[in-house]
Amino acid sequence: MDSNEIRERFFKFFENIGYKQAPSSSLIPDDPSVLLTTAGMQQFKRYYTGELDAQKDFGSQKVVSIQKCFRTSDIDEVGDESHLTFFEMMGHFSFNAGANLKRDAITSAYEFLTKELGLEVDYITVFDPLKVEESDWRKTVPFDEQSYDIWKNEIGISEENIHREGTDNFWGPTGNEGPCGPTTEIYIKTIGGKSIEVWNLVFNAYYRTKEGVLKPAEMPGLDTGMGLERLAMVVQKVPTIFDTDLFLSIIKSLPEGIPMRTKRIIADHLRGIAFLISEGVRPSNKEAGYILRRLIRRVVTHAGNINLNTLLGDIIAMYKKHYPTLKEDIVLEVFNEESERFSKTLQSGIRELNNTEKIDTLFAFKLYESFGLPYEVLMDLGGDKTKNLVREDFDKELEKHREISRAGAEKKFGGHGLIMDTGELKAGNEEELKQVTRLHTATHLLQQALRDVLGNEVQQRGSDITPERTRFDFSFPRKLTVEEIKKVEEIVNQKIKEDLPVQYKELSKETAEKTGALFFFKQKYPETVKVYYAGDNLESAYSKEFCGGPHVTHTGEIGVFKIAKEEAVGAGIRRIRATVQ
Ligand code: SER
Repeated sequence: MDSNEIRERFFKFFENIGYKQAPSSSLIPDDPSVLLTTAGMQQFKRYYTGELDAQKDFGSQKVVSIQKCFRTSDIDEVGDESHLTFFEMMGHFSFNAGANLKRDAITSAYEFLTKELGLEVDYITVFDPLKVEESDWRKTVPFDEQSYDIWKNEIGISEENIHREGTDNFWGPTGNEGPCGPTTEIYIKTIGGKSIEVWNLVFNAYYRTKEGVLKPAEMPGLDTGMGLERLAMVVQKVPTIFDTDLFLSIIKSLPEGIPMRTKRIIADHLRGIAFLISEGVRPSNKEAGYILRRLIRRVVTHAGNINLNTLLGDIIAMYKKHYPTLKEDIVLEVFNEESERFSKTLQSGIRELNNTEKIDTLFAFKLYESFGLPYEVLMDLGGDKTKNLVREDFDKELEKHREISRAGAEKKFGGHGLIMDTGELKAGNEEELKQVTRLHTATHLLQQALRDVLGNEVQQRGSDITPERTRFDFSFPRKLTVEEIKKVEEIVNQKIKEDLPVQYKELSKETAEKTGALFFFKQKYPETVKVYYAGDNLESAYSKEFCGGPHVTHTGEIGVFKIAKEEAVGAGIRRIRATVQ
């Protein structure tokens, strides 16, 4: 049974018992407390709390999905039989599940695995606080007796095959708050004889607040997750996920001389690269961009003469049917730019590494800073020399350096009694405030004009406004032509000439999103937001953005807008500096 058939059967099985299909959400979540989507439930967080209504949005309180996920936490495990960074998570969810929650969840999961797919369950785990450490906040959660009973008395699993586990059998929340609860997990033996966790059934009986308070959930919910790749491995009776139809052709097309672990790393990372780039992530030194950068650098280090472009093309061709947003041309462009940049320093980095006897944290950091060698690349190449290296120490060093450069950047603007610093705008006195306000409104017009000229691929990546200029970073894969820059300038000046009124409306975040207003996906917005718009009314306005202000009252106050410079600031990210006079 190939993976496509598994997908189909999964959807059909749950649709037959009242679940509605929900599409996968983006790998970049709209929850700013997490960098990437790590679980199927993430997009549904607000359905569990009752803030959104699944009946209205999906036609049922029960939904089934296959979600694109990315877990950096498993990056050091990639290369073994069953760990991946990017994977697809199959899950069924129920938001107001009622009294039969656990019975329904356990029975349906068990039936799908055993009857629909003909698999045999090896053992089950359930949550027991006796196995949780004294100091752990999960210690107060009671033993999941009901799940235990259902498995034992209704399904008929023998007592010795129902294991009681602690913290590992409690899930969530993702980010710093959200639904969470005890889990029961299903283990299946692989052909290699090892048992792997295949399905995690989470009973969201609680909500953990930002302050760390565990409150009983108002509407207990169900959240389950099963990696498609792992399921394919047991269904297809192959020894590793890399032997399933989802990976085999990629692994086979890699040259024989490469060690198996390396082949697996390349195959895993290339998938992650294709998806991350297609979702708008660009290599950089922080957040999701830093993750992407590491993946690219690691495959480039190991690839030698292999044509990675062909492999990326094959991967995209294979997934395009399920994920039409995959974009081969952009993936290749961003990938090649980053790999060329890295290739220039890679050899010197390797030379430096070879000339050293032992690598400590500081030296590892130097190799990263000077030659761009990420931690995992050092571990791959360094052999015995790296045996004292610990990832946490490296990460701490990196964070220290990031803080130093952040502080440096702030000092540039500080020092003279800031009256305003929103992170985006900097002004020291009334006069400066007027000037940044003009530039601020001009920046809104600029973003819309860029989208008019270059397309909606343009997305804000950062902005910084001082009394002298505005600096706007946005995603776009190439240099702008002189004509494009001129066109953008003209549009902005035209909108200034039209002297459009600039106003705002306060709306709930959900309504605001529906107006089509632009927002900066990395920013954390409150439940009620202001949407600033330039135009007679919100519907027909030329520019609309989530924004705290301040803005001019009419665009005519801006003056003459001029683009001073256009340049690259990272792979796939452009920066414009502009002034108003
Ligand atoms: N959220 C749970 C997990 O990721 C179940 O989907 O394992």
